[in-house]
Amino acid sequence: MTSSVAKTTPTRRYFERRAEAFDRLYTRQSPGTRLLRMGPRRSRDFAASVVAQHDSPAVLDVGCGPGRVGEAVIEAGASSYMGVDFSPRMLELARARLEGFESVQFIESDFFDIDLLERFDVVLALGLFDYLDEPGRAASWMREHCGGTLVATFSRRDRVKTPIRRLHYELIHRCPIYFYVEADAEALLGDAGFERVDFVSGPRGFFVTASPSP
Ligand SMILES: C[S@@+](CC[C@H](N)C(=O)[O-])C[C@H]1O[C@@H](n2cnc3c(N)ncnc32)[C@H](O)[C@@H]1O
Repeated sequence: MTSSVAKTTPTRRYFERRAEAFDRLYTRQSPGTRLLRMGPRRSRDFAASVVAQHDSPAVLDVGCGPGRVGEAVIEAGASSYMGVDFSPRMLELARARLEGFESVQFIESDFFDIDLLERFDVVLALGLFDYLDEPGRAASWMREHCGGTLVATFSRRDRVKTPIRRLHYELIHRCPIYFYVEADAEALLGDAGFERVDFVSGPRGFFVTASPSP
């Protein structure tokens, strides 16, 4: 496996600066967080429930963030966990959180730049597609490394949340973001070679599971 130092992009800079704030979304109990920012917790719980349906799966977590998902999927029965992220600060949090666990590996890189030979039983892409300007290429990359189930999340395009998120990310932080409806995700994953694309709808987005086509 090879990787290279990730170049600084607005998205990488954004997550580098916001790593602690993002991490706190998992524990904060304020009414605002409970009303509007439950997406990461719901995605983590959904991913853990999918992992629990496999028999000791090897898990690849693309855009793993601060390790909250890693912790949950290991507790749900993953036999090994590889987390990839291009934010060094996110990875510092993740390493500290998972240091007591065995069979854990982290790679600091843009995932497109990693030359990974393995395939994984479960591939996670939680809160990732919202930030990718080449989603088709990303889905194909995931297809190459997925031997069982892909779990991905997407933010839904809607009239209320889309303008608020565009203001926060694009105007204030210069970080481009993308929105989907179910048909977009189905086409994206189908074109990349996934089948049995199933959706679970949430308040502001949706979760997807899919399997590689034979
Ligand atoms: C919204 S956070 C989600 C983190 C984690 N999946 C979770 O649900 O807790 C998105 C993460 O993806 C990472 N990321 C975005 N684009 C990436 C890329 N091209 N390569 C590697 N990491 C990326 C960011 O640094 C950030 O940590």
